[in-house]
Amino acid sequence: MALFGAVVLAAACSSQQRQRHAGTADDPWIIGMSQCNLGEPWRVQMDADVREAAAQHPNLRVIFKDAQNNSLTQRAQVEEFVEQGVDLIIISPKEAAPLTGPVAAAYRQGIPVIVLDRAVQGDEYTVFIGADNVRIGREAGTWLREALGGTGKIVELEGLMTSTPGQDRHRGFLEGLDAEDDPGLEIVFTGEMQWLEPNARKEMESALATNPKIDAVYAHNDPGAHGAWLAARAAGREHEMLFVGIDALPQEGQQYVAQGILDATFLYPTGGPEAIETALTILNGEQVPKQIVLGTRLFTKANIAEGGEAIN
Ligand code: FRU
Repeated sequence: MALFGAVVLAAACSSQQRQRHAGTADDPWIIGMSQCNLGEPWRVQMDADVREAAAQHPNLRVIFKDAQNNSLTQRAQVEEFVEQGVDLIIISPKEAAPLTGPVAAAYRQGIPVIVLDRAVQGDEYTVFIGADNVRIGREAGTWLREALGGTGKIVELEGLMTSTPGQDRHRGFLEGLDAEDDPGLEIVFTGEMQWLEPNARKEMESALATNPKIDAVYAHNDPGAHGAWLAARAAGREHEMLFVGIDALPQEGQQYVAQGILDATFLYPTGGPEAIETALTILNGEQVPKQIVLGTRLFTKANIAEGGEAIN
């Protein structure tokens, strides 16, 4: 009986110690937000969403760090947050493998870690929040398969393949395309554009040079799809093919669809508001699930005016 009491007390003490701030307006909880880069509009939006959600809660303060697309910098920034004694870390990691160690180290020291959008390896973190990238890739594959009527030559422009969304969007796409059942569907070119529009443009130039006929481009994000479209337009071939992307930011992908540049894009929510909501739950000492899966929407010319359509 006495032993049981002691164990419970120890657990209570460690959760007290973990929180160095009271979580009041005078002594707010400190959240360290580690963003892998701010060179892409989608990531600027994620930080803005986190900032806006946090601003509703005077008992929270968020410190933002930008790793400038460098995994070593991001590792160091997570370690700095631990040294600083933040109450909770939110991280959107550049790559899975190099960020797994520092995330696990923070978690082992009792600092709750929310992993946002891109995953790390293993399970030493508090909660992962993000959309299902295999699902989105599969939806993109199915959409293209139907739009092409089961025949066509496809270019795939991949994101960074050491990050989980790149791997998952590729795997899901192959499942949705189901090209084995339709020998008429063929991926004729694959290039890793690492999420970046200028890289996508270069990869697409190679694809165009080596393929006299291309029926569709599937890019793992909208900057990639737009880069491909720019290359096709420069070659006078943009009307020959369909362009499909992912992200669907209102000021980016949705605009491209409205302008007739992209034929389809799938929403990839930033998860910013959900991250703050979940952080508060954790800081208040309540349980959260290990994984929170966000939904997606499809935007095409036909549904853009109605705000796209939910994919269930
Ligand atoms: C931004 C971005 C998005 C993409 C996401 C995947 O860095 O490339 O365009 O959807 O990361 O993590």
